[in-house]
Amino acid sequence: MNHYFKKQFLTTGICLTIFASGISQVAWAETKHLATNKTAAIALQAEKISSDDIHIFTTHTSLVLSAPIGGELKYVYYGDRLHAADLRNIESVANMDHAAYPVYGMNCPKESALAVTHADGNMTLQMEVVTVNTTKDNNTTLTTIALKDKVYPFYVNVYYKVYDDADVMETWTDITHKEKKNVVLNQFASGYLPIRRGNVWLSHLYGSWANEGKLAQEPLKPGVKVIQNKDGIRNSHTSHAEVMFSLNGKPQENVGEVIGAALCYGGNYKLRIDTDDSEYHQFYAGIDEAHSAYHLKKGETFTTPALALSYSNEGLSGCSRNFHRWARAHKLAHGHTLRKILLNSWEGVYFDINEAGMDQMMGDIASMGGELFVMDDGWFGNKYPRKSDNSSLGDWVVDTRKLPGGIGKLIQDATKHGIKFGIWIEPEMANTTSELYEKHPDWIIKAPQRDPVLGRGGTQVVLDLSNPKVQDFVFNIVDTLMTNYPQIDYIKWDANMSIMNHGSSYLSAANQSHLYIEYHRGLEKVCQRVREKYPNLTIQACASGGGRANYGILPYFDEFWVSDNTDALQRVYMQWGTSYFFPAIAMASHISAAPNHQTFRTIPLKYRIDVAMSGRLGMEIQPKNMTTEEKELCRKAIADYKMIRPIVQLGDIYRLVSPYDKLGVASLMYTTPEKDKAVFYWWKTEHFCNQHLPRVKMAGLNPEKTYRITELNRIDNQPLSFEGKAFSGAFLMANGLEIPYNHKVAYHKQNDYSSRVLYLEEVK
Ligand code: DGJ
Repeated sequence: MNHYFKKQFLTTGICLTIFASGISQVAWAETKHLATNKTAAIALQAEKISSDDIHIFTTHTSLVLSAPIGGELKYVYYGDRLHAADLRNIESVANMDHAAYPVYGMNCPKESALAVTHADGNMTLQMEVVTVNTTKDNNTTLTTIALKDKVYPFYVNVYYKVYDDADVMETWTDITHKEKKNVVLNQFASGYLPIRRGNVWLSHLYGSWANEGKLAQEPLKPGVKVIQNKDGIRNSHTSHAEVMFSLNGKPQENVGEVIGAALCYGGNYKLRIDTDDSEYHQFYAGIDEAHSAYHLKKGETFTTPALALSYSNEGLSGCSRNFHRWARAHKLAHGHTLRKILLNSWEGVYFDINEAGMDQMMGDIASMGGELFVMDDGWFGNKYPRKSDNSSLGDWVVDTRKLPGGIGKLIQDATKHGIKFGIWIEPEMANTTSELYEKHPDWIIKAPQRDPVLGRGGTQVVLDLSNPKVQDFVFNIVDTLMTNYPQIDYIKWDANMSIMNHGSSYLSAANQSHLYIEYHRGLEKVCQRVREKYPNLTIQACASGGGRANYGILPYFDEFWVSDNTDALQRVYMQWGTSYFFPAIAMASHISAAPNHQTFRTIPLKYRIDVAMSGRLGMEIQPKNMTTEEKELCRKAIADYKMIRPIVQLGDIYRLVSPYDKLGVASLMYTTPEKDKAVFYWWKTEHFCNQHLPRVKMAGLNPEKTYRITELNRIDNQPLSFEGKAFSGAFLMANGLEIPYNHKVAYHKQNDYSSRVLYLEEVK
């Protein structure tokens, strides 16, 4: 920490420890409540507002907790930033029945966040506040509330972290004890939030392989709603660890109060909402405790993953913008660095890798203006060459029969074409047909006495990352590649199997239930080592498509592959849902072939481009099968994408018309924070003669500014009637533009699809 100073003072048992290091924030008015003037100057984002209450805040949101020393830690308020007067009297209007971190044993009918069995068999907890401590470090304020059991030497620290530059709070806990023997943790959620009943709706994502990120919206009804993942490896195919609560009825994109929550964890999770006879929905989120009872040793600390909370009074899109800003600034590798436009070899050649083919693809993407080529699966294996998905994972040596010049030659070719080179690996896995498995059969996940359950290709198995030797092996895959070929710019890190059979040869018999947790601790350790040594490498998280879109894994990755389904129409739905929590800069979105390889649907190139351009643009196609005209359209699109890339990748999203509303069209836009530029997307989702589509009102513009409209990726033989014309932000947001339902193209080029991308630039 640079030039920091530390000040401590005690006021009725509350201890504030303040670190400041070259901080230049605006001092919050409310910090005047604090006891010294030095504290005001360093813009602490937490303050004591009465002898018991703590106010933790971001620019637009407040969380109030009651933390009386010797008493119970309670939740008081979460929502819009409170004024000083409201803060003084908030307790008088709050429901004070909610423990901020409910524990099991003395209020058994209610669900709990933490439940344990003490060393002596006692199953109850009764926690009291010992200290409240707030520290400031660079741009974060961390509030730590230390709790101790009234009787047992059992301790929980509840943390709340806020950032100066994001309307997101993170909460998690540390659990430890000094009891004579192990304490068993039976439930260990990261956080809890009561949500006042009313007409509260839940938005969450569900799906499957090739159908990820689907949006579900439902009113919360009496009973229990559980969103859970038990895959072990890939936790975002069938459900997501992120949800939004719309507090004023049916969810709306640009108005209404919304609370968003994202569990930052790469493994199994459980989100649970209890709607009982009380006035509140009760939301718990954390690691799924099923089959994961944790035996906590004396002195050991169990840290739960962070639960990120956000609140917005600007609807679902407002909440998404909060998550996106926080993600770019804090939860994504290189969140402020523009991503390269790439061609990935997978759908172009699948396993059919060879030197001439790679060179041709590199030449083609370079000629269209691309900046990176990624060689996908199929390049490795010596004794067992990787010809299909049934062998070789674990044997990370180049197959010189396919690539005689090795990776060195490929890098030379990329350099010749003026682009960068990237490579695919699936480091956490092996096939039973591999030299690795022959040498280390005990490195895979499986129960003793049982045959391994085999996955993809009939031979795939998962390596046991709880084992430090396996962690070293996985790290060395990246380290060896990068040491030998430091020019490698990008790694696609895939993971294509679930934990099917519970068991580890490394973990003790008593601790077999730690497997899921230790796997992810092991993975995280490897990722940390990779990032420490290779901070500039771009890494994509892929897991059979979109299986790893979560904020547990993303701090080590730059982006994720949204889905193995590249069908542009289905992508409209999947990318819409995924954008609820994840910014466009992280959403890999590729132009692929027609008919599509997953849906077999034939969608015109213009539409495929227009959809891919709303995320992190790439291509996943065999360019040698494209016509000169198609290549030219892509070349122009890539050039235009380079112009709008900062708006899409770093801008603010406003979702306008949802494909899930089945109005025949979907539309969204991105604006710069300065609101001087924007990109508007419009995709027809149904195709009928003389149908009626809504005129789409824009959002997120400055009503006072005037914007000139330019259509991108134009295929029509005449410009749009408003091409080059300027309109006020007020008009565009109140009325919108009439978008023609079809394209004016030659008869033989007519088809049933229609889409538009409009670039808006302020006229100064
Ligand atoms: C699954 C990924 O999602 C695909 O993109 C591709 O990389 C294959 N694995 C390769 O086996």
